Amino acid sequence: MTRYRKFRLHLKCKVFVLLVCISAVYLFLYRETYSRFSKTFFEYTSPLLDSSPCACQKCLSEGDPWFIGHFNKSVQPFLTSEYNIPEDAFNWWKHLQNDRSSLTDYREVVDKLFQIFPNRQYNTEPSPDKCRTCAVVGNSMNLKGSHYGALIDSHDIIIRMNGGHTQGYEADVGTRTTHHVMYPESAMDLGNTTHLVLFPFKTMDLRWLVSAFTTGSITVLKANYEFITQVMVLSPAFIKYVHEVWLDNPAHTYPSTGFMTVVLSLHMCDEVSVFGFGADSDGNWSHYWEKLKDKQFRTGLHKGPYEFKVIQQLSERQKLEMFKGL
Ligand SMILES: *[C@@H]1O[C@H](CO)[C@@H](O)[C@H](O)[C@H]1NC(C)=O
Ligand SMILES: *[C@@H]1O[C@H](CO)[C@@H](O)[C@H](O)[C@H]1NC(C)=O
Ligand SMILES: *[C@@H]1O[C@H](CO)[C@@H](O)[C@H](O)[C@H]1NC(C)=O
Repeated sequence: MTRYRKFRLHLKCKVFVLLVCISAVYLFLYRETYSRFSKTFFEYTSPLLDSSPCACQKCLSEGDPWFIGHFNKSVQPFLTSEYNIPEDAFNWWKHLQNDRSSLTDYREVVDKLFQIFPNRQYNTEPSPDKCRTCAVVGNSMNLKGSHYGALIDSHDIIIRMNGGHTQGYEADVGTRTTHHVMYPESAMDLGNTTHLVLFPFKTMDLRWLVSAFTTGSITVLKANYEFITQVMVLSPAFIKYVHEVWLDNPAHTYPSTGFMTVVLSLHMCDEVSVFGFGADSDGNWSHYWEKLKDKQFRTGLHKGPYEFKVIQQLSERQKLEMFKGL
């Protein structure tokens, strides 16, 4: 009996060792197969990964039917010398501010413009090896005390508008400006590292731009522009697109500068952060550089709440990030 038991124990041990060996071999083979499989899997999927339109974690042009229903990437944002405005877009645009100019007048001015500014192709297409981050910086009082300066400065493209300036407010609004959106009435000195982006609302605005850089009759501002090397002009057809597609074509109005800048940023960037839009937490509408007297309120957003709703939609659908300030 004892011998038999010994024998059984011995056998059990052998079986156990054998099982361990089999498991080891099996595990080894499994790992080999698996790694070969996962390699094949990786090789198979990597071209798909490469085809992502941009190098960010999430690219603007992906997913979301609501967004795709609004965003039309074939609408070219900026004028170029080759660009020919569709006649219906010109006719829509010239009524915004009762422009009496004809399409011929318009073309003449645009031709002059491109004689002054060498034509550039503005590539607004996303690229798989780039993640273009943009900060759109509005002028709201809610920036004051926000300490957003460093965050704003960390973006590749920083777009400010109209009277927005940095001097004296660096901690809250940052120091860099790559693009400054303005129309003649809000012109200011930009320096030579900032693109001047003109939103034209009439042929006269384009004529003003030509004069500002030459010696025409509207030269008051010429001195300020001596150093500006980069000028971009928003296409009237882009304004029409923002009005009709993004704002659902309301009568008797046209999109605000702030709203058009947000839509423009969706066309130029892969990740958009929006600062300085809306009222401050007291409900005051004013600019961050202004000192309000007691009880002075601005009930702002002259273009109504619809624009703000669309921006909120974009935020909820994570197409942009809103920084609400204070
Ligand atoms: C997008 O814009 C292009 C150029 O303006 C236009 O031809 C096309 O119809 C637009 N697409 C949609 C879906 O609106
Ligand atoms: C930009 O302006 C600065 C000083 O105002 C000057 O030193 C520099 O050469 C200018 N750069 C260009 C490209 O014009
Ligand atoms: C905002 O409005 C409040 C009244 O609700 C006022 O007391 C306050 O001074 C205003 N804020 C600024 C920054 O002027």
